[in-house]
Amino acid sequence: MTVSDVRKRYLDFFAKREHVVIPSAPIVPENDPTTLFTSSGMQPLVPYLLGQSHPEGARLADSQMSFRAEDIEEVGDNRHTTFFEMLGNWSLGDYFKQEQLPWFYEFLTNKEEGLGLDANKLYVTTFAGDEESGMPADTEAVEIWKKIGIADDHIFSYGAKKNWWSRAGVPAKMPVGEIGGPDSEVFYDFGLPHDPTFGAECHPNCDCGRFVEIGNSVFMQFIKKEDPSTGSGQAAFKELPKKNVDFGGGLERLVAATQNDSDIFMIDVFDAARTVLESRSGMRYKDVVRHTSDVGRTTSYMRSFRIILDHMRAASFMLASGIRPGNTEQGYVLRRLIRRSLREADKLGIKDAVLAEVAGGFGDAYRDHYAFIYESAEIIKSELEKEEAQFRKTLTHGMHELEKMGNSIDAFTLFTTYGFPVELTEEIAKEKGIALDMTAVQAKMEGHQALSRAGAAQKFAGGLADTAEQTVRYHTAHHLLLKALQLVLGHDVHQRGSNITSERLRIDFSWSAKMTDEQKAAVEKIVNEQIAAGLPVVRTDMNKEEAEKLGAEHEFGATYPDIVSVYSVGPLDNAFSIEFCGGPHVGNTSELGEDGKQFKILKEEASSAGIRRIKAVLE
Ligand code: ALA
Repeated sequence: MTVSDVRKRYLDFFAKREHVVIPSAPIVPENDPTTLFTSSGMQPLVPYLLGQSHPEGARLADSQMSFRAEDIEEVGDNRHTTFFEMLGNWSLGDYFKQEQLPWFYEFLTNKEEGLGLDANKLYVTTFAGDEESGMPADTEAVEIWKKIGIADDHIFSYGAKKNWWSRAGVPAKMPVGEIGGPDSEVFYDFGLPHDPTFGAECHPNCDCGRFVEIGNSVFMQFIKKEDPSTGSGQAAFKELPKKNVDFGGGLERLVAATQNDSDIFMIDVFDAARTVLESRSGMRYKDVVRHTSDVGRTTSYMRSFRIILDHMRAASFMLASGIRPGNTEQGYVLRRLIRRSLREADKLGIKDAVLAEVAGGFGDAYRDHYAFIYESAEIIKSELEKEEAQFRKTLTHGMHELEKMGNSIDAFTLFTTYGFPVELTEEIAKEKGIALDMTAVQAKMEGHQALSRAGAAQKFAGGLADTAEQTVRYHTAHHLLLKALQLVLGHDVHQRGSNITSERLRIDFSWSAKMTDEQKAAVEKIVNEQIAAGLPVVRTDMNKEEAEKLGAEHEFGATYPDIVSVYSVGPLDNAFSIEFCGGPHVGNTSELGEDGKQFKILKEEASSAGIRRIKAVLE
């Protein structure tokens, strides 16, 4: 069956059982700033699961566009993707386990109305109870599965890690106000031989690739209570006003099950994109797969095909939903998908622009259900072409710097200064017969990332109001402004306070006289020159003493750890400005001048004795 067939059969099946079919919510959640993407069918329905009545009634079904950024590293095996469609049916305080489990079984096995899967290939799991929270085992679900006819040796029970569902995970991890409950999953046995590297015995939750989860019925009946004195034990939970069912099924995996092929990248929606990759790489995907033991275990070529297919499908949905590549939030995730794909294309030997062509394969594949992908073909193409060209430039530049390094290759600097991927440095170094100490590089990178996160968290708690792209631009403009003030007024000028929003930047600085119009114009001119110069904004982590020696600007009264991060506008050894800072910043000052924007001082006034205040914008 095709993706369209299975989606339609599922929605028809539940419509016949008095469910109202609702449209997919957008991939970027509406009115929910706490998460970047919709990652499950239940997410847009939380208010209704909490007890509010839904305008369409108590029985709902849909196919929800979902994206899980946390799965990005998992992509490459036979069954993981970042983007997927989650089939869902819900009971909002209407039916419960007794109806849900037999219905799903019927959908899976019935030939006329459902998918006609072989019942012997189905395995089910139930909740074994959880000692930490005291939540009891779900024996009722076991009894229902037995009554349906599932053999004892096809029923497995697991603890909270596997068979309790909430957006936050196990009961102990759920924040106050979060809803959850025990669940029951169904797995399809693709019959691959077990790979003992994943454990002595195979079982439904083994990761060897033989069993693939195809659906999960969550019995959403608990909410974590307000009372902190009750801790995280059972007493910390209270029954919801109504018991709900929250079912989620992986559409792509169900299609793979109907084909009895455990490789979800062989389903119809990937056909056109896969063909593009095959013709551009000169490799046949199926041959690559066949040359390895089986689809559960991957070669690097297989991984490359799969990563590109997954990421370009996700990128198409994001671009069509209005997301653009950027340095923050959804835009950053999209940029990562594109850059990762490009590196994988390189491994397949594809040296020229290819991503837009691959993504072009998804417009028709989804035309019947998601016409907006087809209708956004032009924008998807142009954005991918632009981003791919830009990243190829980064790669060329990084390569050039790498050549200059001769035999003493510094992968860390190449990454932090030029954005050149570490894995790529490793491969190139290998070609030269140099084995880099990747453990040391990795350790440095991890330190860098931890510092980056800590720095960002600290900064957001202080001067930056949010992470919107415009706010980040203003943050970089703030660095340019401080330096320009020093150049015009003198080096006694230091920052005494700052406040940045997506609307404007504000700086307080040590200076006692009112600035003249000429001084203000000179400052604006300097800032705009740096924007026009397109300088890279570079982060470097170093000893505090070293940073002080470089004359990096500190924040007044701040204390810093022994290792600090500094941001330089321009390369560190030839920088326009250097500041102690946790970021985030734009990658290049040219981003501040997008759409012809200019830096302008709106206001210059006294703030307190010896301190002046400037408000400025990019417009
Ligand atoms: N909400 C459940 C899941 O995402 C169905 O697995």
